[in-house]
Formats: sequence, C-alpha cells, structure tokens
Amino acid sequence: MNFTNMANEVKNSKHRMLIVGTGSIGERHLRCYLATGRAEPGICEIDAQLRNAVADRYQVKSQFGDVQEALTESWDVVLVASPAHTHIPIAVKACQSGCNVIIEKPLSTSLDGIEQLRQLIAQKNLIAAVSYQLRSSPLVQEMKAALDSGRFGKPLQLYMTSGQNFAYYRPAYRDTYFADHRTGGGGIQDSITHMLNLAEWLVGPMTRISVDASHQKLAGVTVEDTVHILARHDTVMASYALNMYQHANHGQLTVVCEDGTVQFEASADRWRFMTEPDGKWHESVHRLEGRDAMYIRNADVMLDVLERKYAPLCSLEDALQTLRVNLAALRSAATHSWQDIS
Ligand SMILES: NC(=O)c1ccc[n+]([C@@H]2O[C@H](COP(=O)([O-])OP(=O)(O)OC[C@H]3O[C@@H](n4cnc5c(N)ncnc54)[C@H](O)[C@@H]3O)[C@@H](O)[C@H]2O)c1
Repeated sequence: MNFTNMANEVKNSKHRMLIVGTGSIGERHLRCYLATGRAEPGICEIDAQLRNAVADRYQVKSQFGDVQEALTESWDVVLVASPAHTHIPIAVKACQSGCNVIIEKPLSTSLDGIEQLRQLIAQKNLIAAVSYQLRSSPLVQEMKAALDSGRFGKPLQLYMTSGQNFAYYRPAYRDTYFADHRTGGGGIQDSITHMLNLAEWLVGPMTRISVDASHQKLAGVTVEDTVHILARHDTVMASYALNMYQHANHGQLTVVCEDGTVQFEASADRWRFMTEPDGKWHESVHRLEGRDAMYIRNADVMLDVLERKYAPLCSLEDALQTLRVNLAALRSAATHSWQDIS
C-alpha cells in the first residue's frame, strides 16, 4: 500500500458510524474520525452524564444509552470502544443488524462468541477490523515491507523493550477496566498485547510462550504492571520486557535477520536497519505532531478499509490469534509454565 497516494485520494461521502463507549479511547476516536471529515458519528454510552458531556463537546446529534436501541437506526459501521469483555456481544448485535464492525483491542477476554461473530461476518459479507493501531503507522508499514522483501534474509530473533508512565497518561486507571483481568485489565491484555500483535505481523504467529509477570508499582491495583516474556514464533526466538511506571517513554522492537538488523523505535518516531557489522544505521523518520495524529491516520486507514480499498490491517483472524497469545500469557504467568498457543 502506498500511503502518499492514499493521503491524496479523493474523500468519499461520510460514513454513518456508531461509537459504542465514549470513555478515554471512544472520545478520542470520536474526535479523530470527525477530524477526517469522512465520518458522521453517533454515540452510545451507558453513563448518561458522560454521554451528555461528550455529545455537547462535539455537537453529536444521535446519542443513545443502549446498543439495541441505537441499532434501530441505520449505521454503516459500529466502532466498539467499550471494555474488552463487552466487545464480542456488542459486535455480534451490530453484525446481526447488518453493520460492519471496528473493534478495539484486545478482541476479547475469552473465546466465547467469536465463532458466532465469524459466521455472521461471513454470511452477511461484512467487514471486521480490529484496532491494533500500530499497524497503521507509516514506520511500521515501511519496516514490514522491507522485512517482507527478503532483503535482510530470514528473521532469526526478535526482542522488544517498552515502558511508560501509565498513571501519568491514564490517571483514572484504578477505576476502569484496567483494574481487573476479567474486564481486559493488566499489562498483558491492555499493554504488551500491542507489541505481541505487531511482532506477529512482522515475523509470523507466536507458537509458544513463557511469562513472568508481577505487580510492582501501580497504586490501587493488583494486576501485573511488569511483564517479561520468552517466546517462539515458530523458528524465531523472541523476548519482550514491559513496565507501566518508568518515567521515560520507551518502545523499541528489533528483528535480527540473517543479513541485517531491523529496528522500530516508537519513542524516536523511526525505523532503521544495519547490514554490516558495526556499520551505519540507515534510518527513516516520520514525526506525527500530537497524540491525536496517529489516531487520525488510523481513522483514515479504517475508512479506506470500509470503502473496500484494501483488507483490514488487523483482521478478526489476526486479532483472534493475538487473543490466544494473551490467554496463553495469562495461563503461563499463573502457572509458571511454558504454554503452547492454541
Ligand atoms: N488502541 C488504543 O490505543 C487503546 C487505548 C486505550 C484503550 N483501548 C481499548 O479500548 C477499550 C476501552 O478503553 P477505554 O480506555 O476507553 O476505557 P474507559 O473505561 O475509559 O471507557 C469505556 C467506556 O465504555 C462504556 N461502556 C461500557 N459498557 C458499555 C456498553 N455496553 N454500551 C455502551 N457503553 C459502554 C463505559 O461507561 C465507559 O465510558 C478497551 O478495550 C481498551 O483496551 C485501546
């Protein structure tokens, strides 16, 4: 896909989009889809005070407190931005009403209902995309194209390190889904899942996993905020380390191939490669100004997918594979054992 051409493409008429859940990410999506000029959003939020405040802030005309009621209107797409344990039941209702779906990550907290969702999507020829938005980063797109070209040879090893001060960015975390595994909380399902999904896109599905995870610092919760993973993506050996409290914003993923080292550095807005021992890094930098910029880009990509210009960057099948990884990671952390991904 060529993003330069994509950005220049003529914008189609506006898409009727129902955003379900207008908490932190739902409100951001509302703002960012509006910023594309290509969507006409309505909202569905069970918290009446929040719903009214968000509707006022963005002058949203259609607002609902219940999904079933909202689905009596006609929508092109339902964007599911409620907590993870509600994603599948809401997506099933949306598809039963003939709507395409964009589902926030992680896909769910269990495999329940996913087969039904799959069947509905196939029967009704609907589009389902999952919002692992790192895949719409131009840096990641370029890095993946370079890896897929084979110019660096076969990937042999992948390592990822990541850290962020979660309490600074999400001060209300104690009072959200994050506090409980059953609602999609903890560092595995909420945070490192982004990098696991990205790694699967770059080097293929994970096949085995061993996890050491612990609650080390975040006040007011007991779920893990520190995660260490050893894994296999078939023949590729991988390791991941994440914490949710360091001050420096850091995210780096390196793929070491037979003939080159390739690195994505989210915190430096770059990807780069080296093909000689102790050689020179060749780097590509894209700076997106402000935190909304990445989400506006993601919104434009999703709307292109809805217009069937290309397939979802993260399909339901890809997100299901990462859900299996999340679940295996939780099992591994609880039992201190290696788990096959199944
Ligand atoms: N892709 C990203 O960068 C990103 C970032 C943050 C969160 N997320 C994901 O998005 C989802 C929501 O996260 P959040 O941080 O916005 O949570 P949040 O708690 O801030 O907001 C969730 C909202 O959904 C509402 N809600 C719950 N059940 C509902 C229902 N049945 N119908 C309508 N509204 C309902 C809640 O009242 C709440 O306002 C989670 O799955 C999370 O993992 C993704």
